[in-house]
Amino acid sequence: MTGRLANEVVLVTGAARGIGRAVAVKAAEEGAAVALVDILTDELTATTAELAGTGATVAAAVGDITDEVSVRQAVGKLTDDLGRQITVLVNNAGKNSYADPAKMSVSEWDDVFDVDLKGAFLMSRQVLQPMIDARHGAIVNIASIHSKLTTAGMFPYAAAKSGLVGMTRSLALDVAQYDVRVNAVSPGYISTDLLEEFFDTIPGEREKALGVHPLGRIGTPENVAEVVCFLASPAAAFVTGANWAVDGGLGVRYA
Ligand SMILES: NC(=O)c1ccc[n+]([C@@H]2O[C@H](COP(=O)([O-])OP(=O)(O)OC[C@H]3O[C@@H](n4cnc5c(N)ncnc54)[C@H](O)[C@@H]3O)[C@@H](O)[C@H]2O)c1
Repeated sequence: MTGRLANEVVLVTGAARGIGRAVAVKAAEEGAAVALVDILTDELTATTAELAGTGATVAAAVGDITDEVSVRQAVGKLTDDLGRQITVLVNNAGKNSYADPAKMSVSEWDDVFDVDLKGAFLMSRQVLQPMIDARHGAIVNIASIHSKLTTAGMFPYAAAKSGLVGMTRSLALDVAQYDVRVNAVSPGYISTDLLEEFFDTIPGEREKALGVHPLGRIGTPENVAEVVCFLASPAAAFVTGANWAVDGGLGVRYA
């Protein structure tokens, strides 16, 4: 198999739809065997069937990244089904938050950080040892433009995504000696179900979004997938600890 990810086994969380699905499709096109994790059973089945239909080597596990038992079982099933260890992990599963900081409960706070930060730790912990043993591996964490900027009404999404970028830096330094690379990708507005939820929740954002983009458009999941697959590949052999913006220039715009 040729391609930038030939011989890699790429596990993508939140792979049933949106950016995660696009990453899985692109990774398969680039020659990887792909392992999909999501909590959405029906969508996961559909995405898996679609990938298998293209001739890709694919395995799937319904799993919740916030639950360490579920994470262990999902990674175990995927490596059993594929007969190989994971060499690339894409921590993509995430969710938005629209809490009122004066009213948010502790359990609502924990729900956000469980999905947007702890899940990436649990998944990374589960796949790291074989990467370290093999002196080969890459982790790509899908953060957000909210890791640097944010929008009123989305408390505390920016805190969780900033934490994910901090974890990326920290992990990158700790595993660099084993030739395992860890990077983040920070998308801006990307056309997915999650963006539709955001537009439906924050008044006026849909109308504003197009006008503020230097490139004059909202991004696609495939735009993000290209950068993720590059960072996961040997082409990015000297890139670690980085946070790559995929935001059409929005993050550098002052006014
Ligand atoms: N769409 C955007 O504009 C945008 C911008 C910046 C960052 N992001 C980030 O990109 C990532 C993907 O976003 P998307 O727009 O494709 O969202 P999406 O809602 O379309 O897809 C997210 C997927 O993650 C899965 N998921 C959620 N919680 C999970 C859990 N506990 N365990 C396993 N799977 C779980 C969902 O079921 C879903 O399939 C997220 O981390 C999001 O924060 C998205």
